[in-house]
Amino acid sequence: MTYENLLLEIENGTAIVTINRPKAMNALNERTLLELQNAFSGFAEDDAIQVIIITGSGEKAFVAGADIAAMQSLTVLEARQFAKLGHQVMRHIEACPKPVIAAINGFALGGGCELALGCDIRVAAENARFGQPEVNLGVIPGFGGTQRLTRLIGKGRAMELIFSGSMIDAAEAYRIGLANKVVPHDQLLAVTKKMASTISNNGPLAVRLSKEAIHNGLELDLERANQYEAELFGLCFATADQKEGMQAFLEKRQAEFTGK
Ligand code: CAA
Repeated sequence: MTYENLLLEIENGTAIVTINRPKAMNALNERTLLELQNAFSGFAEDDAIQVIIITGSGEKAFVAGADIAAMQSLTVLEARQFAKLGHQVMRHIEACPKPVIAAINGFALGGGCELALGCDIRVAAENARFGQPEVNLGVIPGFGGTQRLTRLIGKGRAMELIFSGSMIDAAEAYRIGLANKVVPHDQLLAVTKKMASTISNNGPLAVRLSKEAIHNGLELDLERANQYEAELFGLCFATADQKEGMQAFLEKRQAEFTGK
């Protein structure tokens, strides 16, 4: 697939995906969603990639939402289909076996906030603004916002953000657990890449299995989730990474993981 709306770079095992529709504040139309889906299918299979960063082009926006101009005249069935495509893509990103970090460089509104919620970790620039303003347009969040925002920040806060349609700044997003960290705008990519590199230096299979344990375990009751964790913990002992990681610790040296 040729990418019209995404820029892709790979740097030291980290893939950087930049959503690039500057005229529409990087809004998500069908094409951009399909490109994201395609890109993430490739990342999942590419052994050279350990971590993925998603950001937006330009100074002002991460992603300002789903594309309002493209949605304006959708029929009921088309709108439902568009929401399902959004769900499918956010789920695909969330289910990517490798960690995904959103580097939020400005507005993350509507579908943009939902895209950030589909990522595992959110690093916000000081100028980032978050919100689910869909009710201002007479619609509800349609790419998973009613669900993932509620699960991440709790029902009361999610309801306040979604019912009011108000924007919050990066400091408030950090306070309520929507952003993991807030950094000066000019350091956003550097800090996010450093986080990616810290993750990449760890046992890749162990990082992937922890992601799987967290995501799938959240859908289970604690008893079953712990059982599932024990199974994955056991599975680690079938890997060369476990042998290397523990041996390196005992020999007081840096581990050299192979992801095998
Ligand atoms: N879709 C399409 N185009 C968009 C867009 C969007 N979500 N957001 C911004 N744009 C376009 C604007 O139409 C404008 O285009 P023109 O230059 O051709 O007029 C351009 O980007 C720049 O935008 P503004 O002039 O409005 O810039 P601003 O700095 O004054 O305001 C903003 C920035 C606050 C982000 C404002 O653009 C805005 O409120 N955008 C819409 C945000 C929104 O409502 N998002 C939710 C969309 S619905 C959704 O996402 C549903 C879902 O869950 C699936």
